[in-house]
Amino acid sequence: MKNALSGGLVGLVQTLLNWYDREKRTFPFRGVKDPYQIWVSEIMLQQTQTTTVSGYFTRFIDRFPTVEALALADENAVLKAWEGLGYYSRARNLHRAARIIMGEKQGRFPGTAAEWQTLPGVGPYTAAAVASIAFGEPVPAIDGNLTRVITRLFMVEEDPAIPSVKRRIYDLGRELMPPTRPGDMNQALMDLGATICLPGTPDCPRCPIIAYCEAQKTGIAETLPNLAAKKPPKAVPVAVGLVFCGGKVLLIKRQQALLRGLYVFPLVEGEDDAPALEKALKKLGVCVGALDEMGQARHIFTHRVWQMRLYLGQAKEAVALPEGVWASEEDIKALPLPGAMRVAREYALKYMREAAG
Ligand code: ADE
Repeated sequence: MKNALSGGLVGLVQTLLNWYDREKRTFPFRGVKDPYQIWVSEIMLQQTQTTTVSGYFTRFIDRFPTVEALALADENAVLKAWEGLGYYSRARNLHRAARIIMGEKQGRFPGTAAEWQTLPGVGPYTAAAVASIAFGEPVPAIDGNLTRVITRLFMVEEDPAIPSVKRRIYDLGRELMPPTRPGDMNQALMDLGATICLPGTPDCPRCPIIAYCEAQKTGIAETLPNLAAKKPPKAVPVAVGLVFCGGKVLLIKRQQALLRGLYVFPLVEGEDDAPALEKALKKLGVCVGALDEMGQARHIFTHRVWQMRLYLGQAKEAVALPEGVWASEEDIKALPLPGAMRVAREYALKYMREAAG
């Protein structure tokens, strides 16, 4: 194996694995052998901090202990267990993939990263993480942490978003994978990236593999990876209606890609005034009297920020809607609502309790 590192890769890998054995972080998904649990944890860990995932992971596994239990579950129950974690397409894809495993794969998990990638919601990163941790396949799980560690170790100065640079980072990661313990090696690199080789402010004096780091030697570790500046999320005005009738409030099951399958109060994206909301409600067949503004809320998604005005209204009639539910307090608590509706939900529950006396 050729490389430009002093000491060679064998020494680097062994030093990092020794560090991992001493210093690894403890999580409920660490040390787990069950591929199902490893897969669930890696899906949750996409875009989400380890500390946030820990609580969700334990509750999710208690609720759906096997791939069979997950495949048999109702989508609302799966989304409910995911409530608050965000990026809900992860939960919908996990559920679909569980049904594929129990159906066409007759309960057998894929054994390789290439096979894992054929399942919905499993990209190269997750496939490599699961295949290395659960099945010992020596494939690097290149996420933001590994990208940072690798670009610094090997002083990759180009933007990792460029396809040829991405491939180079993958190839370098592949060279770091030992034939035994590749899952631990991936997790050691993740832990190093999350605790020492930090974005902007790496704590190089604490780094167990500082002797191998080209960028540190050159004094540019903190400038890598050389990422292009991200566009800030776009502000979108949104009008949200808390529409009551006979002590119940209207919830709509989202059909749009953003938040599909979750329940939201009726809303209009792109406008935040009462007439726009009234018009949208009328289109649904719901006639309201006055719509009074009762508060505001904000929610940040990856590419947009909902700036919400919340309106209170009374419907003349609780018309039946194919994707709507006139929800009681218990229904609101039982149905999956996204974090974007947290403030509106609090207002609705408060209003219902006050109205009930
Ligand atoms: N981030 C994603 N997967 C992880 C894992 N298995 N351990 C620590 N951080 C992670």
